[in-house]
Amino acid sequence: MSKIAVMGYGTVGSGVVEVILGNHDLIAKRAGEPVDIKYVLDLRDFPGSVIEDRLVKDFDIIKSDPEVEVVVETMGGLHPAYEFVKASLLAGKSVCTSNKELVAKYGPELIKIAEDNNISFLFEASVGGGIPVIRPLIQALTADAIEEITGILNGTTNYILTKMRDDGSDFESVLKEAQELGYAERNPEADVCGYDACRKIAILTSLAYGSQVDYEDIYTEGITAITAEDFKYAGVLGASIKLFGTSKMIDGKVLAMVAPVMIKPSNPLYAVNDVFNAVYVKGNMVGDLMFYGRGAGKLPTASAVAADVIDAVKHKGVNIRMIWSDKKQKLLPIMDAKHKFFVRVKRCEGIEDKVARAFNDVSVVDAGIDGEYAFVTGVMTENEYKNAAGSIDNIIGMIRVDF
Ligand code: HSE
Repeated sequence: MSKIAVMGYGTVGSGVVEVILGNHDLIAKRAGEPVDIKYVLDLRDFPGSVIEDRLVKDFDIIKSDPEVEVVVETMGGLHPAYEFVKASLLAGKSVCTSNKELVAKYGPELIKIAEDNNISFLFEASVGGGIPVIRPLIQALTADAIEEITGILNGTTNYILTKMRDDGSDFESVLKEAQELGYAERNPEADVCGYDACRKIAILTSLAYGSQVDYEDIYTEGITAITAEDFKYAGVLGASIKLFGTSKMIDGKVLAMVAPVMIKPSNPLYAVNDVFNAVYVKGNMVGDLMFYGRGAGKLPTASAVAADVIDAVKHKGVNIRMIWSDKKQKLLPIMDAKHKFFVRVKRCEGIEDKVARAFNDVSVVDAGIDGEYAFVTGVMTENEYKNAAGSIDNIIGMIRVDF
């Protein structure tokens, strides 16, 4: 019998309890022994719930109980999650977490402590919720050099962009509707500004290349500037707009960025709609791979956490190795990144000549919107784009293009 503790009885934590109790016999078979939840840590009371008798409010009870071999962290946020996770690992307990902020910020340190203590620090649920993507990276794909990871890593923004495309609505009204339906947080900043996707691509990139990518160093744009008009142009181009978290190995440096991108149906991520997430991975031997599923939600995320618990129980006394050192990964400066750019401009006297002088290779897109038109540039660096765009003061907006 393995005893575990769950820290945080919110959406994901209560999901973990539901999965472990609901699939108890199957989990016992797969783990090689029954898995019993001894404690649930939360400051709130849950009278009448299944965890009533297991509820504790003092982390020290968990830390100092030698029977507890695995600790689940589903509290979220950095503090006190970091202190509790670190103390659990130092006390010789494996930790399984869904907390992307914690992993992105303290991953290398916590991985090292786990390694030194022959236990495991596992975080499958921190990226892509229920989609298995961390385990493929650290196990199934270890014979490959990873050339690219591109993901739709945030369900809230994918839902908003899908609705904007399908209904022709603007960002603000779709966000409001998503909040009313409970698909978007009341404070949606982390999602709509791209910070959530940024932490997730930082984790994937660090694991893919084995060294630290600080999320603060990743160029990040959200979807707040995307408009109903942008989708009109995308429709004319036969394209859609998605929020991508991308990392690509380019001449020994990694380009990591989060930004909205126009893509066509030939892109495998085009069909990923609503709250779904997907991660495209390109290995130098295996070629193209796609992982698709629910990137958020109680049971999908809890399923990934519970699978980590089973892995930790199966590997008692053994560290499940993650290669992610605190050495900083060399990043390609964003200004050297190359793309095509979709650009909207206000119509005015001589604008077409100005555009032609600034950008030597453009194709015009007209969506029949009064007072403006758009064009798609050839492939150029961000720096070249910035210089060319600087000579035109009528630009309404720009979106990177991947077709
Ligand atoms: N807010 C996140 C999303 C939840 O919308 O995808 C999962 O990290």
